[in-house]
Amino acid sequence: MNLTREHLYYPEFWDYARQTLGNQEINVRIAKMLGLTRFAVRSIHARVGRGECADLRRDAYPGHPDLGAVNDSGSRIDEDEFQEELRELEPLFPDKKRAAVSWEEIAERAAAESDARDRIDPTQQFGTIDLSSATKPVGIFLMSDIHFGSPQCDYRTFLKHAYWLKTIPNLYGIFQGDVAEWAISQRQLDAVLGQVFGPQNQAQFVKALVEDLLQKLLAVCMGNHEGRLEIFGGFDAGLYMYDAFIRSKHGIYLKDGGSMKIRVGQQEYSWLMMHGDSRFGSMYNQNHKAGQLARMSFGRHDIASTGHTHSFSIQYTESPAQDGNPPRPEVLLQAGSYKTRFHEKYPHRLGFAKSPHVAMPGVILFPDTKRMIPFGFVEDLVWCLEGYNKKSIVKGK
Ligand SMILES: [Fe+2]
Ligand SMILES: [Fe+2]
Repeated sequence: MNLTREHLYYPEFWDYARQTLGNQEINVRIAKMLGLTRFAVRSIHARVGRGECADLRRDAYPGHPDLGAVNDSGSRIDEDEFQEELRELEPLFPDKKRAAVSWEEIAERAAAESDARDRIDPTQQFGTIDLSSATKPVGIFLMSDIHFGSPQCDYRTFLKHAYWLKTIPNLYGIFQGDVAEWAISQRQLDAVLGQVFGPQNQAQFVKALVEDLLQKLLAVCMGNHEGRLEIFGGFDAGLYMYDAFIRSKHGIYLKDGGSMKIRVGQQEYSWLMMHGDSRFGSMYNQNHKAGQLARMSFGRHDIASTGHTHSFSIQYTESPAQDGNPPRPEVLLQAGSYKTRFHEKYPHRLGFAKSPHVAMPGVILFPDTKRMIPFGFVEDLVWCLEGYNKKSIVKGK
């Protein structure tokens, strides 16, 4: 392109430019072509319009040979090159009017995005846990509603349970949501400010805890407190926990709960698990929620467990099987919480008595015959399991 700043000092150039570009935004476009500011070009344009061409040239080029004269040759530019340069410039205000894509293309893109999200998401609703090598009974208990970070959490009991989980070979755990307090919502400022550790440290704790208990955790699901991070921070705390689970032998991430088949020795047990902030709760019967969950969602299971209400209860009952099959034993586990210390106002506000116990229910499952023994407290479960491990129980039972 042979357009130079000097061309701008000649009225002939501006006549040509106006014919080509029109009046609108002419200064901006010329400025873009020459790499000048539009203010500089506008100023020159205005001075040319006032007939100050000679002054302009004098100012710009002291000692210019055609000082004060209008030199036609100075305004001459290669018109083809100028047009080429114009075509390369992006239009300032493209006249679009219509969408540049069809609805089919939009739908195709949405489908590709949906496929990608599906592949990214490690969430399961169903999973199989393989403890088929077990030759002794195994104990599985709920670690629900730990609420790490809350001052009301009974940390000493939690440490005791975690120690058992680490050291007793045939004891396994399920994190059933509300693993940390995650108080971040400003509408609960007292909860936010009252935490013994903030969310950053809570996240560190969860990560380290999952890493350490990796081979002893069978499943993790989200609670409504993890949900706060998703609602207010767009962050899936469950995925953060799951990150370690990919190296786990057994663990599965059932984000919003789900159904597990647990193979223990020769036997298979079905276990339905969910945090329990559902619509199925009853003020009359704590076990109604797990039972109703099974009836309304994934169907009958050998064990159905929930948490969230912080009031423990267990029920060993018979439930009707589908399609006319005879009723089968069903264990319903409603977990308590580790959040039991001093004044925890939530249950009081609802009118319930606050439990003073950390009641973590569990069940012992047998590898040779299909047999389940539920416990309301993991302490009793461990006492019984250790009895089996020491072979102090009558052989064959
Ligand atoms: Fe909770
Ligand atoms: Fe909860």
